Amino acid sequence: MTARLEDLPIRDDLRGLTPYGAPQVPLPVALNVNENTHPVPPEVADDILDGIGQALGEINRYPDREFTALREGFADYLGHSLTRDQIWAANGSNEVLQHVLQAFGGPGRTAFGFAPTYSMYPLLTRATGAEFLAGVRGVDYTLSTEDAAAQVDGARPDIVFLCAPNNPTGTPLPLDVIEAVYDASHGIVIVDEAYWEFAPREERSALTLLPGRERLVVSRTMSKAFAFAGARVGYLAADPAVIDALRLVRLPYHLSALTQAAASAALRHAPTMLQMVDEIVAQRDRISATVEALGYTPHESWSNFVLFSGVEDPAATWQALYDQGVLIRDVGIPRSLRVSAGTEQETTAFLDALASV
Ligand SMILES: Cc1ncc(COP(=O)(O)O)c(C=O)c1O
Repeated sequence: MTARLEDLPIRDDLRGLTPYGAPQVPLPVALNVNENTHPVPPEVADDILDGIGQALGEINRYPDREFTALREGFADYLGHSLTRDQIWAANGSNEVLQHVLQAFGGPGRTAFGFAPTYSMYPLLTRATGAEFLAGVRGVDYTLSTEDAAAQVDGARPDIVFLCAPNNPTGTPLPLDVIEAVYDASHGIVIVDEAYWEFAPREERSALTLLPGRERLVVSRTMSKAFAFAGARVGYLAADPAVIDALRLVRLPYHLSALTQAAASAALRHAPTMLQMVDEIVAQRDRISATVEALGYTPHESWSNFVLFSGVEDPAATWQALYDQGVLIRDVGIPRSLRVSAGTEQETTAFLDALASV
């Protein structure tokens, strides 16, 4: 006998919610969750294995609760004169965001994001007992300084999520919008730069806005550009006081010694780990050009994926691609589908399949 969820004494505010559920199916070409489809280079894998081997020698002990070496690694990687007391990390940037919500959100509080945006923001918000407020975007999913500031001013949220570039649309977010939203709010402003490494090199990250803004948080992940999604490592940079707040809510020893060792080793090889970024950007631009030639409308993307519109029946197109072994994502935006840029071969398989639909 199995009970149903509604038979359990579950929290009232969790009733009726559905869990995150991007399909995990073993298709030959999986381009649905914006992973980096290139494996970790062998020379880096060797060093990671050495690090894990050393960590195993002391695995009977709890790990460094402060993951000091890893925080130093992230500070070095990010640059901008950041120091380790401004860095936090957890099991994926999802957990990093959860820590921020636990510390600054919670019951009676609100978090705000401009829809459509990353589907986990509302879920994480509600799971910590806060309410999620959805703002709206303008033409082609962009945000203007005046409009974004006015919406945040009107909503008065305790936390604002700004996804830069935005998932699932790929839309860039100008720095002056971030500044305007920060000035219009009294709460924590999180700029989620999960896909930042795929943005044009000459552009400035929100990290440049951190000095003097103690409520600003910039989160990143190793899951995308670093091809490290399976290791579950995300991080953020913020004022040291914000980091102290996060220490209040994390579980003791939340980052395992194996995770710390693997991530530190991968970070020591950052240039090698990131060597596929240019290739992925080239495939992304090839997707945009080709879907346009096929009669669809690709949206500008600074990420490793492309949202394209003009799809008459997204569910039918998704299924037709699926039947040809190509998995992409129906993100629920009318007449649109999202595809991650894969290897050249995977991208060709997707484009050929789409052309045949
Ligand atoms: C915008 C954005 N933020 C955060 C994440 C979470 O990534 P992870 O938990 O793997 O670091 C994702 C994953 O797709 C994402 O798209």
